[in-house]
Amino acid sequence: MMRLLYTLYTIMKNNNTSFTIWLTGISGAGKTTLANALQTQFKENKIISLCVDGDNLRNGLCQDLGYTDLDRKENMRRASCVAKMINNQGQIAIVSLISPFKAEREKAKNYIGENKFLEVFVDCSYEECLKRDVKGLYKKVEAGFINQFTGKDSIYEAPEKPDVHIRTGEVTIETGLQLIVSEIEARYQLLLS
Ligand SMILES: Nc1ncnc2c1ncn2[C@@H]1O[C@H](COP(=O)(O)OP(=O)(O)O)[C@@H](O)[C@H]1O
Ligand SMILES: [Mg+2]
Repeated sequence: MMRLLYTLYTIMKNNNTSFTIWLTGISGAGKTTLANALQTQFKENKIISLCVDGDNLRNGLCQDLGYTDLDRKENMRRASCVAKMINNQGQIAIVSLISPFKAEREKAKNYIGENKFLEVFVDCSYEECLKRDVKGLYKKVEAGFINQFTGKDSIYEAPEKPDVHIRTGEVTIETGLQLIVSEIEARYQLLLS
């Protein structure tokens, strides 16, 4: 209990409050995988973090939204609101959302706070994601059953200067996680074991 309190105290002291790790990338790139791995790492360090995942949002808070550009922007806006609510209560937020638009990611960053926002580009080619096809979506897209699919007929604007750039087709999940952890350690003076 003491150690937990001490860790939390250290975070609050170092960061004033807390921060958001925002993972962006196309479907199947590895956002949810890395978000979960990161949350596990935090947990092992007795640090609480809360995940805001695209699929969960779509099933609940954002179930009224579709996949038009406008709806995707609204989806991103709501995710940023949830992340900020989490941060305002002193907790770390991990957002894993395609979030295809540069301007809206920028808005999220400004809304949450520039120094509290870590943009992680989960970078994987369309071809590799199609090969993985975790959710069977790519098969449906190729068969013409899904429209407005990111990377196909809906745009993905890759970050130009992400805080962390992970090429998941080239590095292991473990290495990807380590890249994020190193950046967090450097930026927020946290030491994660
Ligand atoms: N280096 C890697 N980083 C992350 N995921 C990877 C990597 N290599 C393979 N994968 C696999 O790719 C898939 C990514 O799926 P997921 O995390 O659900 O993607 P997203 O949330 O971006 O749609 C998982 O099955 C994961 O095991
Ligand atoms: Mg996901």
